[in-house]
Amino acid sequence: MRVDPYVIESGRGPAVVLLHAFPLNASMWAAQREALAGDYRVLCPDQRGFGGTQSGHDDPSLDEVADDVAAMLDARKVDTCVLGGLSMGGYVAMAFLRRHPERVRALVLADTKAGADTPEAAANRLRIAEEVLAAGDAKQLVEEMLPSLLGETTRERRALVTGRVKALVERAPAYAVAWAQRAMAARPDSFDTLRAVTVPTLVVVGEEDTLAPPADARAMADAVPGARLVTIPGSGHLTAVEAPEEFNAALAAFLAGPAAASSP
Ligand code: MLT
Repeated sequence: MRVDPYVIESGRGPAVVLLHAFPLNASMWAAQREALAGDYRVLCPDQRGFGGTQSGHDDPSLDEVADDVAAMLDARKVDTCVLGGLSMGGYVAMAFLRRHPERVRALVLADTKAGADTPEAAANRLRIAEEVLAAGDAKQLVEEMLPSLLGETTRERRALVTGRVKALVERAPAYAVAWAQRAMAARPDSFDTLRAVTVPTLVVVGEEDTLAPPADARAMADAVPGARLVTIPGSGHLTAVEAPEEFNAALAAFLAGPAAASSP
């Protein structure tokens, strides 16, 4: 059943949809909303169960999340958008590309990867899903995930960013975490999807990202014809949060350049 996402929306102009990372929520895009709202309509939905969006009870699948995003655009009478996703948001963006390619007029893939999980990675996600449901909260992610979500530079020098991300991870609801982990474990390889992309594409990666490292970004950029790759020094996995100025500069240049050329 469709879930109507809670959406943080700012600005007017061509639509830019930004899909958040796991286990965060749409508030991670605050700096991008500030930077872009003068020129764009920025739509940041909370994925099922995160932030202000209710849980979904379908079988876990990122296809469901992609269809929620399409329904969110329908409800706002937005035909096409620039679609951006960071990490899990990137997986959802690739599912969206498979299911609604005609609605994407430019694509941004940040700190994500096109390959499916290895059997070990998928098994680890299923373990976490069971453990958080048994515990009734997802606090274990602070220990298990927080260190790898942030780059070394951020962990050493950006206490405010570290505190903000820790608070978001701590508050992630157990059911949403479990559902998303199972959905991510089930996601397919997306390289064929990327090879078929015909819209302008920006790939962004933090130089210190260990969860979706620069080699994964390079592989995605090589797969999409004509894609632009930007590597951000001094940032880990959460580039949009850890290095917002550099991330926004790359995004703004892309939106004003190749993405603007593809305006409807
Ligand atoms: C994320 O940041 O969304 C996660 O690291 C994605 C994942 O677990 O693969």
